[in-house]
Amino acid sequence: MTSRPPSRFPYAPGSDGTPRIAYGADYNPEQWPRDVWDEDIRLMREAGVNTVSVGIFSWARVQPAEDAWDFAWLDELMDLLHAGGIGADLATATASPPPWLTTAHPEILPVTASGATVWPGARQHWRPTSPVFRAHALRLVRKMAERYADHPALVAWHVSNELGCHNIYDYSDDAARAFRDWLRARHGTLDALNHAWGTAFWSQRYSDWEQILPPRLAASHPNPTQQLDFKRFSSDALKEYLRAERDVLREVTPDVPVTTNFMVMGNTKGMNYPDWADEIDFVSNDHYVHPGPQDRDELSFSANLTSGIAGHRPWFLMEHSTSAVNWQPVNLAKRPGDLARDSLLHVAHGADAVCFFQWRQSAAGAEKYHSAMVPHAGPDSEVFRAVTGLGRTLQALAPVAGAGREPARVAVLFDWDSWWASEQDSHPTSRLDYRQEALDWYSALLALGIRADVVTTRAGLDAYDLLIAPVLHVIPEVLAKDLTRYVEGGGHLVTTYFSGVVDENDHIWLGGYPGALRDLLGIRIEEFGPLAADETVALDNATTGTVWTDRITVTGPAVEVLARYRTGAYAARPAVTRRAAGRGSATYVSTRLGADGLTVLLPELLAAAGVDSELPAAARGRVELAVRRGPDSRYLFLVNRTDETVPLPGIGGELLIGPAATEGGFALPPRDVAVLRQSAR
Ligand code: GLA
Ligand code: GLA
Repeated sequence: MTSRPPSRFPYAPGSDGTPRIAYGADYNPEQWPRDVWDEDIRLMREAGVNTVSVGIFSWARVQPAEDAWDFAWLDELMDLLHAGGIGADLATATASPPPWLTTAHPEILPVTASGATVWPGARQHWRPTSPVFRAHALRLVRKMAERYADHPALVAWHVSNELGCHNIYDYSDDAARAFRDWLRARHGTLDALNHAWGTAFWSQRYSDWEQILPPRLAASHPNPTQQLDFKRFSSDALKEYLRAERDVLREVTPDVPVTTNFMVMGNTKGMNYPDWADEIDFVSNDHYVHPGPQDRDELSFSANLTSGIAGHRPWFLMEHSTSAVNWQPVNLAKRPGDLARDSLLHVAHGADAVCFFQWRQSAAGAEKYHSAMVPHAGPDSEVFRAVTGLGRTLQALAPVAGAGREPARVAVLFDWDSWWASEQDSHPTSRLDYRQEALDWYSALLALGIRADVVTTRAGLDAYDLLIAPVLHVIPEVLAKDLTRYVEGGGHLVTTYFSGVVDENDHIWLGGYPGALRDLLGIRIEEFGPLAADETVALDNATTGTVWTDRITVTGPAVEVLARYRTGAYAARPAVTRRAAGRGSATYVSTRLGADGLTVLLPELLAAAGVDSELPAAARGRVELAVRRGPDSRYLFLVNRTDETVPLPGIGGELLIGPAATEGGFALPPRDVAVLRQSAR
């Protein structure tokens, strides 16, 4: 476990200095006439808004030409916010370069793998490695920092916006140069690079650094290690850019905390956020619901992972939506209750801020159909009433602010390297979905009423009784040793198909799969058995496998077969194995069981680790429990996942929000949330 610098978390300015849950939105008043601003401040106060993010897309407005600056409107806005008791999470305004800049310097525009220019017209059309872009952006950052350093509304700096949302992969000549520098630092010598990339294959041996390129459009599969290193490099390049902006801010305003909004959600995988988290003063995240059968499980998973990335300290929900978004194939409105429940689920997992994109729904532009706190219909609307109600709820939750998350006994391990590498091309199957596999385990735990943490390899894994590491594909030698030590020390490790197969250079661990974990698991696999798109296999524990199977030979001592294949090419052979090792155990699941199948398998694995649900039987699977813990109190968040009333007998504490207990005991209405305070002593 690496030690982290202390988190510095902003609170909206308050006369008494008491912690509170920040509440607000991205606020883009430059889209509106001046008289609307006064109504905005009035409505923000009505809704309990205490923090807004401003200036995110204001570059063209504050710097209309290379040597022209217009801060008057932003000065006035900052003053208005302060007078209204609203703090500003002030953006550095660098997210979208203005037309004058891209016209004068088209060499800042990103280039796709096939060599096409990414033109201006939308946003984020800049190369992360462009020295020209960086010089212009940092000049703006310094101007902003100097201008507002002492402004009383300023509570935090918001670096750029969603770094990498549209420009994570740039294949330009700037990127090529920076990639070579990065490779020199990683591999040292050309010989080492040639070895790491396996360039003996397909006549790819490099004899000069200048020959090396990003993995541009190629005739067939580009070199896999080149692809993996390019992913690492691209994440690092944007991290470097984040540091550059941050360094200017720290120099000018050392006391103002700096953040940038991550996108821990869905399939956003280009940015290795665990690795970025140390660069900022507090972690912020944006999350949007992707409607589907596991949508709220995914919300919980993302919030939980964000907390893991933040070291289980409070984090800032910078954006989510009050209702529909505008960028999905079909943009569904939220159902009544979901606005509050979605927000509170983030708070349950450690968010001390609930902010939306955006305050007032745009009348023009690409996001005019995206919901907001004040919809097109105006404040006389269901959405605004729900927004105001949530403001009151968050005020009642003020005591929770500052509390960390109480660790669970079970963890799901989520690893960026394995995510990147396991889904590359030219593999046994293209149907493997790393995040889905992890989410399925998490969903199954929720269905069983088991509280779990989602953690990364930077977390202290030893604290967990049960560690589930789905598709842990990339295992460097040191991780293999850590996992062995974990198991020998009494930990119960569960891993799955396609785990332990390669090292950090994407080289196969030879001698039979699952390579690095073969001895620990006590099994050996000579060939993978991926399944065709419509193919399933039955297991003898009444579950069904898809996507993958393995032809397992048990080699080690003390290996028991927990389930066998009943059908398919490997019928009668082991499908799930568990080896007792040291004081713990190591389990291997060779097929995708999906959330339903995993709820069948998990009880046995939980029992071995001595883990039981903390919820009353009637609430398991129907209510999600998350716990935050401060110095004196623990806060139980109980979130009704269903459309029915769920009884919660035997759970007590001081009710901060939620329905009061009746004679029949405490019960949670459909999609409702309760928070109970208990003594932590
Ligand atoms: C992202 C961006 C916002 C907005 C929202 C819309 O989160 O940061 O500017 O585009 O998406 O969902
Ligand atoms: C072709 C090529 C070989 C190899 C195989 C793989 O036959 O000639 O080099 O790539 O395909 O199927």
